[in-house]
Amino acid sequence: MGIVLHGGTIVTAADMYQADVRIEGERIVAIGYEIKQPGDQAIDVDGCFLFPGGIDPHTHFDLPMGTFSTSDDFFTGSKAALLGGTTTILDFATQFKRESLKEALGNWHAKAEGKCYVDYGFHMAITDWNQQISREITDLVQLEGVPSFKLYMAYKNTLQVDDGALLQALRRAGESGALVCVHCENGDVIEDLVHEAIAQGNTSPKYHPLTRPPEAEEEATVRVITLAQIANAPVYIVHLTNQGALQAVANAKLKGNEVYAETCPQYLLLDNSYYDLEGFNSAKYVISPPLRPIENQKTLWSGLRTGVLDVVATDHCAFNYKGQKELGLNDFSKIPNGAPGVETRMGLLYTYGVMAGKLSISEFVALTSTNAAKLFGLFPRKGTIAPGSDADLIVWDPRISSVITVDSLHQHVDYTPYEGFKQIGQATHVFLRGKLVVQNGQLVEDKPLGIYVSRKPFLKRKGEENV
Ligand code: URP
Ligand code: ZN
Ligand code: ZN
Repeated sequence: MGIVLHGGTIVTAADMYQADVRIEGERIVAIGYEIKQPGDQAIDVDGCFLFPGGIDPHTHFDLPMGTFSTSDDFFTGSKAALLGGTTTILDFATQFKRESLKEALGNWHAKAEGKCYVDYGFHMAITDWNQQISREITDLVQLEGVPSFKLYMAYKNTLQVDDGALLQALRRAGESGALVCVHCENGDVIEDLVHEAIAQGNTSPKYHPLTRPPEAEEEATVRVITLAQIANAPVYIVHLTNQGALQAVANAKLKGNEVYAETCPQYLLLDNSYYDLEGFNSAKYVISPPLRPIENQKTLWSGLRTGVLDVVATDHCAFNYKGQKELGLNDFSKIPNGAPGVETRMGLLYTYGVMAGKLSISEFVALTSTNAAKLFGLFPRKGTIAPGSDADLIVWDPRISSVITVDSLHQHVDYTPYEGFKQIGQATHVFLRGKLVVQNGQLVEDKPLGIYVSRKPFLKRKGEENV
């Protein structure tokens, strides 16, 4: 007995067409007309789009930050993701000092197992590089289904690695069939600027962007692209924010380098005027890299359109304003960096991308699902609507409009950066591997049904798709 979604418009990264979709068990088994079999349940999705489930390859759930953790763990964060139309997340399992990668991975499995409403995988964030860690990389790729790693060029004395480690990790990952994701900001320069600001008594959140200038991001982006070229390895730039960094990626792509990049809704829709809010409210926007002057937004949208940017992820890293962001009341450098966004990504990109005429609907699907699936070893199991693919499907009703408020969301955090933003469309129904988990915008499956997805190694391009 299967389910037939009848009357909708299927959208993939390549096509948009009207047809029915038949689901049996966890998979899509047929697309076409008159495909209903005896005993099938038919669901009428007339007037709606069918999108492949969203894939958010940049979340931080249950991430420890000194004496506390992000306010969203896998349970709350993934529930919010699902309600927003995302059915797979890739979270950053983080190795802390002296841990092996295997230990760190075990810690993240324990955080997520049985608590995740969406399917999930892990990138492994390496913060303590040595030869033992280098040797573990191949095992993670081949045995653990982790073909992507993350290194930070910022957050000195905690997460940051030096250029030597970066070069070695890129080389090792490249040889092992893995893709390295990099946070590009010059951490040494930032550390100096922050010390200088605090010493001068400049302690309010408005100094956050002033101590993390776009040039520090551009410089690091150019540097890692160069290191990746020396290592003959692909590289993926996370949360790119500005014109200079975008130009560096565009130049590298033009040269044929295997460089990929993501941006996030916050950089497309918010700007540095949020650092001038009254009182301490700007702390809600203390994220790294920071929000940029508004003119960068136009460049980022065109980067999405022209393929310089490959993915729109969220960097969901939620901290409550009360009690967490407030830790930096007297010193902006003590404000935990990050903001929520996992629930609002699809709606915002649909509204301010597709509905505003900045993206085609197929580009929207590519940026929110397909490209991440291809880059991170999930395609064609996920990231598209095709026979044989997991039935991770979003029924998107474009006739519903709403206004985003913190109370309308399910993220476990006391604010949203998008308070008052209009949203067009809604994920009215969501299927996770064939199971209807969201119906009429409400969660109808109480249990978290998400499973760990072991991912395939990254195939170097050389003219081939990563399928
Ligand atoms: O401010 C941010 N982005 N916090 C999360 C960690 C990171 O840099 O991705
Ligand atoms: Zn980062
Ligand atoms: Zn992040």
